Amino acid sequence: MSTRPSPLPPDALLLAPMVGLSHRALRELIRGFGGCDLYYTEMTSAAGYLSGAPYDRFFLDSGPEPERTVLQFYAVDTARMVEAARKAARELPAAGLDLNFGCSAPHIERSGGGVSWMKNPEAARDLVARVRDARPEGSLSVKLRIGYDDDYGRLRDFCAGLSEAGADWLVLHPRLRSEKLRRTGRWDYVRRLREDLGIPLVGNGDVRTPVDKAARVRECRTAGIMLGREAVRRPWIFALIRGLERDPGFRMTVDAAETAETFLRLVEELLPPEFHLSRARRFFYYYCDNLSFAHHIRWKIQNAPDLASIRRILAEYFEEVPGDRVVGGR
Ligand SMILES: Cc1cc2nc3c(=O)[nH]c(=O)nc-3n(C[C@H](O)[C@H](O)[C@H](O)COP(=O)(O)O)c2cc1C
Repeated sequence: MSTRPSPLPPDALLLAPMVGLSHRALRELIRGFGGCDLYYTEMTSAAGYLSGAPYDRFFLDSGPEPERTVLQFYAVDTARMVEAARKAARELPAAGLDLNFGCSAPHIERSGGGVSWMKNPEAARDLVARVRDARPEGSLSVKLRIGYDDDYGRLRDFCAGLSEAGADWLVLHPRLRSEKLRRTGRWDYVRRLREDLGIPLVGNGDVRTPVDKAARVRECRTAGIMLGREAVRRPWIFALIRGLERDPGFRMTVDAAETAETFLRLVEELLPPEFHLSRARRFFYYYCDNLSFAHHIRWKIQNAPDLASIRRILAEYFEEVPGDRVVGGR
């Protein structure tokens, strides 16, 4: 087990790694509302990073707060992950590294990455130990799922191995490998694992409101809570949670039109032109949930050919439904 002090702040709030969403523009937007404790980047291939994949400069951009940003990698073999960790230690400012043991996207799993590490506890443990040696500075975490079977003992033993190998904390997204996001996560696994694990555990999945967050912490006593999709829907959610923790009467009002424009501007400033449209569509897929006619405007944005059209669609929408400009709440 790691004897180094854990850099995870108490009662931490973390932004989840999400492909196409957890990029610098989203972090900047969240930071504009007050930020969160740790931001995870979207996953990057360790092999791709070693071979100089063209867009890794953007995937692995840890701005605007490198000291609060964890770089997530997925790997299909130990040697290249260890090499990537060494290279990252030399080149990339960051609070830490995370190993993705949770992704169940077919192409990742079939190639031996993501959740497939959970099939082989010895290899997973060896990977963690060797990455720890390769990059002694900064935190090392693992984000994982329950695994392949509804078997708590197996998960507990797997996680104990990672802890002994030197992981600083784990993030559990409590779904089985085959479970899609539609099914609610099995938070009883988080509660049990937190009781048995010798290192901090962060829980993740389906936390949508400050009330959800407080309930999960109360029930599971996790060291932190990680939010994914809700932080895209409401980039101010972390500020709202902290505000209500300080003062139960706290209220937030946010200008939804201005926030949308800020996001588009950040995308243009910080991401390569080839990414602009896909990243905007992905963001608005969730963000439109703030609006009364979400389905209608989401569909229009998903079919927009460029950012100028997205801007026009939004401007027309807020002109027609001015009441939707002000959002926030609880
Ligand atoms: C579009 C999308 C992309 C994701 N990409 C990643 C990823 O790169 N790495 C990872 O560990 N999990 C990834 N996930 C899973 C999330 O990190 C998180 O575990 C999941 O969305 C549940 O949390 P939530 O209910 O707060 O969204 C992704 C999820 C979504 C919706």
